[in-house]
Amino acid sequence: MSEQIVNNNTDRTPCMSGTGVTKIFGAGANKTVAVDHVDFAFYPGELISIVGESGSGKTTLIKMLLGLTSVTDGDIFFMGNKRDIRTRKQKKEYWKGIQAIFQDPFSAYNIFNKIDTVLLDCINMRGGRKLPKEEKLRMITEACEFVNLKYAELTNKYPFELSGGQMQRLMIARIFLLRPKILLADEPTSMIDACSRATILDMLMKLREEEGMTIVFITHDLGLAYYVSDKLLIMEKGKIVEQGAADQVILNPQHRYTKQLLADVPKLTETWHLDDEAGPATFIRANPNA
Ligand SMILES: Nc1ncnc2c1ncn2[C@@H]1O[C@H](COP(=O)(O)OP(=O)(O)OP(=O)(O)O)[C@@H](O)[C@H]1O
Ligand SMILES: [Mg+2]
Repeated sequence: MSEQIVNNNTDRTPCMSGTGVTKIFGAGANKTVAVDHVDFAFYPGELISIVGESGSGKTTLIKMLLGLTSVTDGDIFFMGNKRDIRTRKQKKEYWKGIQAIFQDPFSAYNIFNKIDTVLLDCINMRGGRKLPKEEKLRMITEACEFVNLKYAELTNKYPFELSGGQMQRLMIARIFLLRPKILLADEPTSMIDACSRATILDMLMKLREEEGMTIVFITHDLGLAYYVSDKLLIMEKGKIVEQGAADQVILNPQHRYTKQLLADVPKLTETWHLDDEAGPATFIRANPNA
C-alpha cells in the first residue's frame, strides 16, 4: 500500500482497502488489463469519488469490490480482514456490509419480482423476516418516503413498470433498508434530469450523515466529484494515476491526466478575474454543505 494512504490515516482502520488489485479479461490477442495493480484505502464515513474516462476500469473495479467479478491478482481487505467470499454463504454475509447501485438500474432487479418483494427481501436480509407484517409495511413506507416515492403507487407493480428515475430512487430505497457499511454507486444519476440528480445526491449524502455509510461514487464529472467528495481517485487505463483529499487533487494536481481532466472543466473550479486577466486564477470550492 502506498505510504500516502497509510500516513494520512494512522489512527483508523480502513473499512475497505486493496493492494495490487488487478483484473485481466481474455488472453493473448484479446487480453484487456481492465484494472492494473491498484492500491487504495477507504475509511468509515468517507465519500470517495472515482473519476476517469470511459473504459478506464471504474466499473470493473467496483464489481471486484462487490465480489461480482473475480480478482485476477492482488488482495482486497474488508473491515480490516482479508476478504474471503469463496462460498455462497460467505458472499451473502459479505453483501450485508456492502451494496451497490449500478449504471443500469434495470440490471439490478429480478424482473419477475414485484417491487413489494424487492423491498421485503431487503428487510429479510437484515434479519427482519419474523417482524410483524405492519412493522414491515411501516419500514417499506418509510424507505419509499426517504426517496420521495409513494408506496401506494408502487405496490403490486414490477420494476420495469417504473421510469428510469423512479427505478434509481427505488435502488436507494433498498439501500435505506439494507443499511450496508459501504455503498458503491456507479453513476447512479445517469438516467435522471439535473434536478432529480441533485435530490439523489442529497439522499446519498443523507445516508452518509445518518448512517455513517462509506460511499464510493463513480462519475465522469470531475466538478461534481469535487463538490461531493472527501477523497478523489483518478483512473486512467486501469491505473489509479492520482489519489488524495479532494482539495489536494483539484488545487494541486500532480499527474498529467488529472491536469488534463481539470482543463476540461475550468469553469467549475476557477473564478475568472475579468478585470485582471493576466493575474493568477483564484480557485474556489463550492460549499458542500450549502
Ligand atoms: N466482461 C468483460 N469482458 C471483457 N472486457 C471487459 C469486460 N468488462 C469490461 N471490459 C473491458 O475492461 C475495460 C474497462 O471497462 P469498465 O467497464 O470497467 O470501464 P469504465 O471506466 O466503467 O467505463 P465507463 O465510464 O464507460 O462506464 C474496457 O476496456 C472494457 O472493454
Ligand atoms: Mg462504467
